[in-house]
Amino acid sequence: MVQIRTETKADIDAVREVHLAAFGGKEDESRLADRIRESVGFVPELSLVAESDGRIEGHMLISKAELVDGQDAQETLVLAPIGVRPEAQGRGIGGALIREGIRRAEQLGYKLIFLIGHPSYYPRFGFKPAVKGGLVLMQFDVPDDVFMVLELAEGELDRLAAARKEKYGELKYPQTFFA
Ligand SMILES: CC(C)(COP(=O)(O)OP(=O)(O)OC[C@H]1O[C@@H](n2cnc3c(N)ncnc32)[C@H](O)[C@@H]1OP(=O)(O)O)[C@@H](O)C(=O)NCCC(=O)NCCS
Repeated sequence: MVQIRTETKADIDAVREVHLAAFGGKEDESRLADRIRESVGFVPELSLVAESDGRIEGHMLISKAELVDGQDAQETLVLAPIGVRPEAQGRGIGGALIREGIRRAEQLGYKLIFLIGHPSYYPRFGFKPAVKGGLVLMQFDVPDDVFMVLELAEGELDRLAAARKEKYGELKYPQTFFA
């Protein structure tokens, strides 16, 4: 049985191991998780671990970013990183982490979650290309189909588009993502 729960301080070493293993030994994602945890954008309830028989098999973070329209900016959420130990992948753990993160973000009153990810994986959770909602990402040079958004509040993208002053809204990841 896999349990999805809020990360605690005691999980942090295991969470680092999870991302190291999931990302083929590269430290970028485990370091990113460490930096987000120490940043103002950290939302403790949205740092989730998947635990099975006392072992941490997966971890996902959703944290704060900004949606900018000209001079105006509003708080929004970004999902990153997510990782599942290679030997535990394909058993629904990633999906369970994402669904619980979505449920909690909605409960906290957030309206959107953005991510950069595989276009074959995230649409099953409701994510769609953000450009369709008139939203752009300038900080990373990525193809349009990997920059995705999920509406937690129905009609939120239309509502934003109707109120927009500029031609496009821009998602801005905080400096934490570039340190
Ligand atoms: C992506 C990841 C978190 C998914 O976790 P998981 O527990 O394996 O996911 P689930 O069991 O819920 O879902 C499995 C599905 O994910 C798909 N998937 C896994 N990795 C994928 C990838 N790199 N690209 C596209 N699809 C992927 C599988 O093909 C499978 O699809 P299917 O259900 O159509 O067969 C996990 O595979 C992982 O840690 N990968 C390495 C790190 C990574 O790429 N993180 C995401 C960066 S965007």
